[in-house]
Amino acid sequence: MAIQSLVSITDYSKEKILQILEKAANFEKNPNQQILNGKVIATLFFEPSTRTRLSFETAVNRLGGRIIGFSDARTTSGTKGETLKDTIIMVSNYADLIVMRNPIEGAARYASEVSSVPVINAGDGANQHPTQTMLDLYSIKKTQGKLEDLKICLVGDLKYGRTVHSLIQAMSHFNPKFSFIAPKELEMPDEYKLFCKEHNIPFEEHTELNEANIADADILYMTRVQKERFTDLFEYEKVKDVYTLRNKLLENTKPNLRILHPLPRVNEIDYDVDNNEKAYYFQQAKNGVYARQAVICDLLGL
Ligand code: CP
Repeated sequence: MAIQSLVSITDYSKEKILQILEKAANFEKNPNQQILNGKVIATLFFEPSTRTRLSFETAVNRLGGRIIGFSDARTTSGTKGETLKDTIIMVSNYADLIVMRNPIEGAARYASEVSSVPVINAGDGANQHPTQTMLDLYSIKKTQGKLEDLKICLVGDLKYGRTVHSLIQAMSHFNPKFSFIAPKELEMPDEYKLFCKEHNIPFEEHTELNEANIADADILYMTRVQKERFTDLFEYEKVKDVYTLRNKLLENTKPNLRILHPLPRVNEIDYDVDNNEKAYYFQQAKNGVYARQAVICDLLGL
């Protein structure tokens, strides 16, 4: 039987998504259990991370498992020329499951094909970040009481933002409406607009973050302009401060609106917004522990 991995959110059916969300809710009620006793999880981060790596490691530690891995690929034999293929074969000799972040799109799929243990994609370039999507869905369901029939505004770097790409695909099961708010240079790629059209998902596009464009939103999903994805830093300088969300802009938004952000933030959300009751991004990051506990246990059949 093929090894099950989580590389793309499209690896999950609607039923699977709902099942994982239910498991995550159970972990939120009881995050400290000995389910992973005797299991070794490898976290291989070829790209920087704070939340994803630490929440995976917290998830494993709270379930009694052990962690091996690295947070800086410069300390590995990759610097001596070892290939990703050999690295993954080696690590799958040591660990029961591999969590990997890599800047190259498709690296996680490739790793899953050469690994003898499940691989979880913790972000591959601008492509996918499926466990972020699971914690985003968990946060949306928790704050809205449902996933169906919501208006979601995606704001900022929609070109390189892997979290928004995965979220569109996951929400396609739940009859959403989208609003894409981005400068022309960072607009949603055609591939995802086509996906919406093929799935009869209505979407609007705007270049301004203003009251009118977020008035009917249930979720305002802010994103950072990702400097590390630009090959031309002059282009980054042109768009880096394109939007800043301030309390004033939120005054006439719907009472149920919640602000999400995968984090880290730079300038796109003013610090004053942190105290607004509609701000949910820090709780969202906390939910990552429960969502990741659910994904790990599911892949290990526990
Ligand atoms: N949301 C997210 O992926 O954050 P990190 O880059 O800190 O892991």
